[in-house]
Amino acid sequence: MIDFHTHILPAVDDGSQSAEESLKMVTSLKSQGIDTAVVTPHFYADEDNPRRFGKRRTEAMHKLNDMLKGSSTEFNIVPGAEVAYFEGISDCEEILDMKIGDTPVMLIEMPFSSWSERMLNELDGIYYKNGTIPLLAHLDRYIRMFNNKKLADKLSGLPVLVQVNTSFFLDKKFSKLAFSMLTKGQIHVIGSDCHNMDSRKPNMDEAMQVIEKNLGHNYIHELEHNERVIFSSERERIERLFI
Ligand SMILES: [Fe+2]
Repeated sequence: MIDFHTHILPAVDDGSQSAEESLKMVTSLKSQGIDTAVVTPHFYADEDNPRRFGKRRTEAMHKLNDMLKGSSTEFNIVPGAEVAYFEGISDCEEILDMKIGDTPVMLIEMPFSSWSERMLNELDGIYYKNGTIPLLAHLDRYIRMFNNKKLADKLSGLPVLVQVNTSFFLDKKFSKLAFSMLTKGQIHVIGSDCHNMDSRKPNMDEAMQVIEKNLGHNYIHELEHNERVIFSSERERIERLFI
């Protein structure tokens, strides 16, 4: 199982602040049965540039991989980014390097406001102009913040994939919706969005347990299937998952 949204790289954003903390987070993920983490440091186009970001991310990945060397169980770190939406994003070729590993998929953090038609058109543009497939980061946060239980329905027909945070399944007020969205194919991958070992720690195991308890193991298989489809990088297969 893959954690698709993590801030485990040391000292690159508001996530892990040291190599020691990163190591603890990876150790925790491994103990939960997670063998791969997509590292998704925040990228803000108005305060950073893709080249500088890429260099910082590569250095941090080397640091973490060095620390993991010699460990008895293998752990894969896949480069990605949590790219904050900005106007003109669909015309910006420089950000294309921020896709997840060798896949055509990019994690995008939408604004914490209601989404205008223009924003949805930009998502369309990312796909139709660049061929990059937007994976919407933590869709649950917008649903919960604005109590907008129909947000996923509003996205129907758009060329996007959806990531939700593990906490969605653990939130008493919203877990029913989370299970329903999963059964409807409106959730493609999950991530802990872990930032540290305290308030936002890795908790993939807790989410997997409640999914299994409420929906059965088939839906864990479903999520694993989606992970394989994304990493196959076969566009047609990925496009069949669209919300
Ligand atoms: Fe995040």
